[in-house]
Amino acid sequence: MGQTGTSKLISVLGGTPAKRPPVWMMRQAGRHLPEYLELRARARDFLDFCYTPSMATEATLQPVRRYGMDAAILFADILLILDAMGLGVEFEKGVGPIVQQIDSAADLGTVPAQKAADRLAPVYETVSRVRAELPGDTALVGFAGSPWTVSLYAIEGRGKTDKSLAWRWAHGKPDELAAVMDYVIEATAHYLVRQVEAGANALMLFDSWAEGLPDNIFREVIIRPTAKLVTLLREMGVTVPVIGFPRGAAAMLPEYAELTGVTAVGLDTAAVPSFVKASLPAQMPVQGHLDPLLLIEGGERLDARVRELVAAYQGRPHIFNLGHGIRPETPIANVERVLKVIREG
Ligand code: CP3
Repeated sequence: MGQTGTSKLISVLGGTPAKRPPVWMMRQAGRHLPEYLELRARARDFLDFCYTPSMATEATLQPVRRYGMDAAILFADILLILDAMGLGVEFEKGVGPIVQQIDSAADLGTVPAQKAADRLAPVYETVSRVRAELPGDTALVGFAGSPWTVSLYAIEGRGKTDKSLAWRWAHGKPDELAAVMDYVIEATAHYLVRQVEAGANALMLFDSWAEGLPDNIFREVIIRPTAKLVTLLREMGVTVPVIGFPRGAAAMLPEYAELTGVTAVGLDTAAVPSFVKASLPAQMPVQGHLDPLLLIEGGERLDARVRELVAAYQGRPHIFNLGHGIRPETPIANVERVLKVIREG
């Protein structure tokens, strides 16, 4: 299941290096765009925005229209799946997301996994509308949070914590954590299958909180559950490429690349080109990893770093992207400048 399409992005994900890398930017749809802010002001709240296909479609298309990005990323959020599972999710200005906290695996699973995915029908509607409106050579990337990062939000109740609660579950209640993640894996698999059926050309798994874990725990909460999810997706008939983004994986990246079954890896801001080249298979596509803060500052150092990253991955399948999401204060001219440098050398 899943069309391969003819886009540059899909070709690179298929293992063919491009002379100039295809480019898109994480969080490209959003608050750095005045047209997004205008649209956003019309929604009751952020969840409502995500669940209104006309608005989410427009937000997805905005950066493609303005910049001619090689890919669109579905406008949604990694926490929608928790909302669909029946945990309350709220996005508070200045505080970030707040999720109804769970104390055990039993607090989840009141909604069967497939039913949770069914509840996200507006998202699939957005995917099919976007796919119908996108130029044929522009790929549509669907996504979900990874099992660990999604579970962590349910355990911690919010993202701006020191994460010690979820880490202590990993050390002290590994079976309870595994039960939570198994349920998240099942719901996420259904969710992603439905995105592909609706027209997503590639999938990305955001593991935003993979950073800093001890290696034994990294294997248990990142590598093993991600492998399980990718295996399940393949068993369910998904053939599109899967980009795994274990942010902050550092020295664990090679093991992640080798053992999870992902097609490609997203590299974060701290990724080191020489390490990536020495430790990942030569044919494995990589995506990344310009510092979003340098993108705000701009100037000659930005030009030089863009050229440096393009040169560093010459000859390997490489998708140019940021090392983390674009910031709201990013000047549009700097994004345009990056595209010009990549496309014109
Ligand atoms: O261009 C795109 O990438 C749009 C789709 C998208 C959003 N969130 C929209 C969004 C994607 C792919 C995400 C992923 C996401 N969401 C992640 C993984 C990537 C990462 O940043 O590590 C995480 C951890 C979340 C959870 C989340 N959602 C947080 C922590 C916040 C609050 C912080 C913030 O940036 O405001 C959100 C809200 C959110 N998700 C916004 C957008 C555009 C801002 C809400 C608004 O505009 O009012």
